[in-house]
Amino acid sequence: MQQTTTLQIAHTVSETRAALREMRRRGLTIALVPTMGALHEGHLSLVRAARTASDAVVVSIFVNPTQFGPDEDFAKYPRTFEADCAALEREGVDLVFAPAAEEMYPPGASTFVDVDGVSERLDGASRPGHFRGVATVVAKLFHIVQPDKAFFGQKDAAQVAVLRKMVRDLNFGLELVVCPIVREPDGLAMSSRNRYLSLEERRQALALNRALREVERLAAEGVTPAQKLIATAEAVLAGEPAVRVDYLHAVNPDTLEDVADTRNGALIAVAAFVGATRLIDNLLLPGKPR
Ligand code: PAJ
Repeated sequence: MQQTTTLQIAHTVSETRAALREMRRRGLTIALVPTMGALHEGHLSLVRAARTASDAVVVSIFVNPTQFGPDEDFAKYPRTFEADCAALEREGVDLVFAPAAEEMYPPGASTFVDVDGVSERLDGASRPGHFRGVATVVAKLFHIVQPDKAFFGQKDAAQVAVLRKMVRDLNFGLELVVCPIVREPDGLAMSSRNRYLSLEERRQALALNRALREVERLAAEGVTPAQKLIATAEAVLAGEPAVRVDYLHAVNPDTLEDVADTRNGALIAVAAFVGATRLIDNLLLPGKPR
C-alpha cells in the first residue's frame, strides 16, 4: 500500500478490504465513487458530493475492459493516473482503489451480471454487451468496498437506470446517489472523451447541448408530445451535418422505454458521433416526483 499524506492508494482487493476494515472499525460511513480515471470536474463533483455525505470517500479508477466493444477505444482510452491521484488528494479523498485487470478479473472469471431489458436500450442497443460489463464491474466494486452510498453522474443516464435496477434486484444495501451533469462554460457536457475532439469537432459537438436546450425551452412553454420535442432536437442536430446521430429518444428514465408524451416526466437522451468520437448528453424533464 502506497501512503501519501492523506490519500491511500491500493492496487489489490485485499489491501482495499484492509483499509476499509480500519475505517469501519473507526465507525466511519463510506462513500464510493467509481470512475475510469482521466478525471475532470464532472468526476470531482461526485467526489465533493460524496465528501459532504459521508465520513470517508473511496474512488475507484479502473478502465474496465468488459464494458468496451472489440472496435471501441479501450486501448486508447486516456490514462492519467498521477494527475488523477493528485486531484483526488486535493479533494481530500481517503482511498483510491486502482486494480490491474487481472486483479478484477482473475483468469477464468466467468460470472457476469445481466440486467435484462434496460441494458438493451439506448447505449445498450448501440453498444451490445456494454451494460453487462458495467453492471458486472460495479457489482464487484460494491462487494469489495461495501459502501453506504455510491455516487454516479446523470451524464450517463442509461447507466444510472441499469445500476438502479441492479441495486434493487440484487438487494445491494446501499444508497445510489445521482449528481447533475457538469458542463464546460459553453455547454458541452464534460467527458473524458472530449480530449479526442479536434478544435473543429469540439465546436460541432456543441450541437448536442443546443438541441437539448431547445427541447427544454419548448417543454417550458408546455409542449409535451415526444414527437414534437424530438423533431425539434433533430432539426437542431441536422444543422450541424458533421454530427452523426446514433440515437435520440424521449424515454421513461427508469425503464428507458420510449414515451409518447412527456407530461409525466421524461429523459431526452442523445448519442452522436463527432468524427470518430461518440458523445452522449441528456435532459431530464421533470414529472411526478421519483
Ligand atoms: P466514467 O466515464 O469515468 O465516469 C465515472 C462517473 O462520472 C460516472 O458516474 C459518470 O456518470 C460521471 N460523470 C462523467 N462525466 C460527468 C459529467 N460531465 N457530469 C457529472 N458526472 C459525470 O461511468 C463510468 O466511468 C464507468 O462506466 C464506471 C461506472 C466507472 C464502471 O466502469
